[in-house]
Amino acid sequence: MTRVPMHFRPARNWMNDPNGLVFHDGSYHLFFQYNPHGADHAHMSWGHATSADLLHWDEQPIALRHTDRHEIFSGSIVVDEGDTSRLGDGGRAPLVAVFTLADQPGRHQSQGIASSVDDGMTWRFFPGNPVLDRGSEHFRDPKVFRYRGAEGEWWVMVAVEAADRRVVMYRSDDLRTWTLLSDYGQRGAVGGVWECPDLFPLALDGDPDDMRWVLLISLYPGGIAGGSGTQYVIGSFDGERFVPAEPAPSMHPIGSGEQSRADLEQFDWLDYGRDCYAGVTFSGLPDDERILIAWMSNWDYAGAMPPAGGDDPQRGAMTLPRRLSLVTSDGRIRLRQEPIAPEHSAVSAVEDLELRQDEPVALDVPEQVRIRIRLRLSEGASAQLSLGPEETPAAVLRVCDGEVSVDRRVGAAGLPDAFASVQHLSVRGGGLDAVLWLDDGSLELFADDGTAVLTDRIPTRTSPQIVLRATDGNVRLDELTIAVPVDALAVAGEGLQV
Ligand code: FRU
Repeated sequence: MTRVPMHFRPARNWMNDPNGLVFHDGSYHLFFQYNPHGADHAHMSWGHATSADLLHWDEQPIALRHTDRHEIFSGSIVVDEGDTSRLGDGGRAPLVAVFTLADQPGRHQSQGIASSVDDGMTWRFFPGNPVLDRGSEHFRDPKVFRYRGAEGEWWVMVAVEAADRRVVMYRSDDLRTWTLLSDYGQRGAVGGVWECPDLFPLALDGDPDDMRWVLLISLYPGGIAGGSGTQYVIGSFDGERFVPAEPAPSMHPIGSGEQSRADLEQFDWLDYGRDCYAGVTFSGLPDDERILIAWMSNWDYAGAMPPAGGDDPQRGAMTLPRRLSLVTSDGRIRLRQEPIAPEHSAVSAVEDLELRQDEPVALDVPEQVRIRIRLRLSEGASAQLSLGPEETPAAVLRVCDGEVSVDRRVGAAGLPDAFASVQHLSVRGGGLDAVLWLDDGSLELFADDGTAVLTDRIPTRTSPQIVLRATDGNVRLDELTIAVPVDALAVAGEGLQV
């Protein structure tokens, strides 16, 4: 069987955040936090992979290697079209990577740059590094983009003073010298250090005359589902300062008590699961295209998960790439995420059925096949979808009173304690209208047209069974469609029984 790739993971060793996502000359480049020497978080360097379709990735040689003095922490890449950095090669515009130099030993963090004139295959560290140093121990994760406004255009860097829960913004004309513009912080979710910010414009409801700016802030701990999480804030940006449309309450002083689930629910979250962190977007795409990839893990347990890969231990995978847009939903502006997934075809469908409590629908889908499930349940439905036999599922998805939960406690024996958890997602309308992508070891749920999203790693399914059951009276099942990537059709076709 051909396994259709869905989630990027390197062949071996440790991976965390996506870095330097850039589209250039017809290829998508994914760089990532990578340990060249093992499956633990150490010796941070930038790994590299390329793709023509965001699904099939070719791993490339390591791009930026750690030294005895520095690890190379997260950052971004821009295509320097005008060669403003003067790091180009005659006619060729350089790719310029901007990243955090994390001192080893010691904790000092500053920003450095490196350039490539061969499509990211080889890199030259800028001899004048660091290019930006605040004398801080927690200054990291620069995301650079080209700002274009009525007054002109320049480079903007958003980075974090992580421990201070602050996004700091800088401006440059040449990527070498940077001046402070403004900062944004100590608002919203502040239960942990702020990391990996991103700032970008999106048209509201597809109207190019109504651009809004979205600020993404990852934080750990203090995420909505516990541990790592990513909040977003919608506002405006004039090339200097980000102003939120609805200022979140300012939280002073930091660390003065835990923020409760109710506190955190006031804010907007990219994802309500445990395993979507440090997500950032591509540069180099047309203005109306925004694609995000995130690390599919959580600092609560990432390093304690059993490694994959047998003799070549490996830890860490990325989420599906997600196309972002901004939509008004129930009078509120929401970030919408649409997964970029393999071409798929339905292998089984149930429609307009009265699902009786004592008559569950059971489907067999071979566990090695990646699956797309479209599930629509009418208002007021209480139901559960067991991924596996009901007695021993890998995880259970429950729907009740406008809330979906993913319970991955049952199959979590042998996994770290922090992994055994239940995640919650509020959905519209008291039923469910969702697309669920299942891969070996992960689940990504896109509800309400992608405005409510939950990503969880789940224990591996050990049986082909999937069972849908009404749990509190009969349920109107509008649709249950199982689709599989077309490359996997032969296998799924043989194994499917309804
Ligand atoms: C986020 C993060 C970043 C840092 C990197 C180190 O997951 O902690 O803040 O740059 O990972 O690998």
